[in-house]
Amino acid sequence: MNKKFWEQKNVLITGHIGFLGSWLTNTLLELGANVVGVDIVKSRKGSVLIAKSKNFKGIKADVANLKSLAKIISTNKPQIIFHLAAEAIVSRANNNPIRTFKSNIEGTWNILEIARKTKSIQAIVMASSDKAYGAHKVLPYKEDAALKGDHPYDVSKSCADLLAYTYFHTYGVPVCVTRCGNIYGPGDYNFSRIVPDAIRCALTDKKLLIRSNGKFTRDYVFVDDIANGYMLLAEKLAHLELGGQAFNFSDENPMTVLKLVDKIYKIAGKKPNYIIQNKVKYEIKHQYLDSNKARKVLGWKVKHTLEEGLQQAIDWYSRLLRK
Ligand SMILES: NC(=O)c1ccc[n+]([C@@H]2O[C@H](COP(=O)([O-])OP(=O)(O)OC[C@H]3O[C@@H](n4cnc5c(N)ncnc54)[C@H](O)[C@@H]3O)[C@@H](O)[C@H]2O)c1
Repeated sequence: MNKKFWEQKNVLITGHIGFLGSWLTNTLLELGANVVGVDIVKSRKGSVLIAKSKNFKGIKADVANLKSLAKIISTNKPQIIFHLAAEAIVSRANNNPIRTFKSNIEGTWNILEIARKTKSIQAIVMASSDKAYGAHKVLPYKEDAALKGDHPYDVSKSCADLLAYTYFHTYGVPVCVTRCGNIYGPGDYNFSRIVPDAIRCALTDKKLLIRSNGKFTRDYVFVDDIANGYMLLAEKLAHLELGGQAFNFSDENPMTVLKLVDKIYKIAGKKPNYIIQNKVKYEIKHQYLDSNKARKVLGWKVKHTLEEGLQQAIDWYSRLLRK
């Protein structure tokens, strides 16, 4: 990363208590940035956020509240914004569509609308998702695939993604979006996701309940590689004129859920122990991304193999579960 770029830079991160937000916050503080975090919760068990720096301030606020967000931005004057705050769990989004749309769509238009009126903001990198594409037959997904989610989480990301597009094309707001595959690694406390759930079951000798038929295909990418991708985008947005663009981030190594689970059990030194429930509704069957654009335009590359990343994650969860 470009330390010179980040030193003393004023950065706002929404969702900084979350899995990816805590990694980004820690990395930016190490590089000397002044970080303000905004999250709807004050703290969370399992968050890897360190944030013991005089350059850090955490604020409890809802991104769906325009007034409080505008006040935070006018007081703290960020030059760079990473907008990650969202309802990020598919099952919770299905159970709470209105709350999901408020956080994921209204929260996004609030950030963009404030940025439209705040000329000092140099770059906004916004978390869309591979799910923003919805289901397509052509694999791997490239950035020009249509955004056509079918279910609440997916649609919330399709909408947020299009909002970023229009705020750049109509108002020149310097925003670009990321569409990442499944992120995993130390600090993901969301145990409804397959990697944390499989590791926890392997480490505690509990039976893993696989909700799909085990044959759904996904790609998995280590959280530190994704944090690097976000930072590269922010660093390069202005001089490479990346406004209004989307970037896929993936390790381009798709696999079935069963293959992933077998790998996790093998690395953890345990015998696979799971039941295939085959009961999911509303999930895309096969989805994985082409990251050629990020590699070519940003010079981004995956630094952690799946095996190394999973080993790091397993070590972290074993410490967490011992506490
Ligand atoms: N983890 C993945 O595999 C993945 C893949 C693609 C995209 N994404 C996207 O990346 C972003 C970060 O994901 P994550 O895995 O760190 O999720 P996470 O759930 O760990 O973090 C999201 C954070 O946002 C906060 N938040 C939720 N609603 C809010 C609101 N209304 N106001 C303020 N804060 C709010 C939550 O409290 C949480 O701390 C999300 O936008 C997610 O949709 C994640």
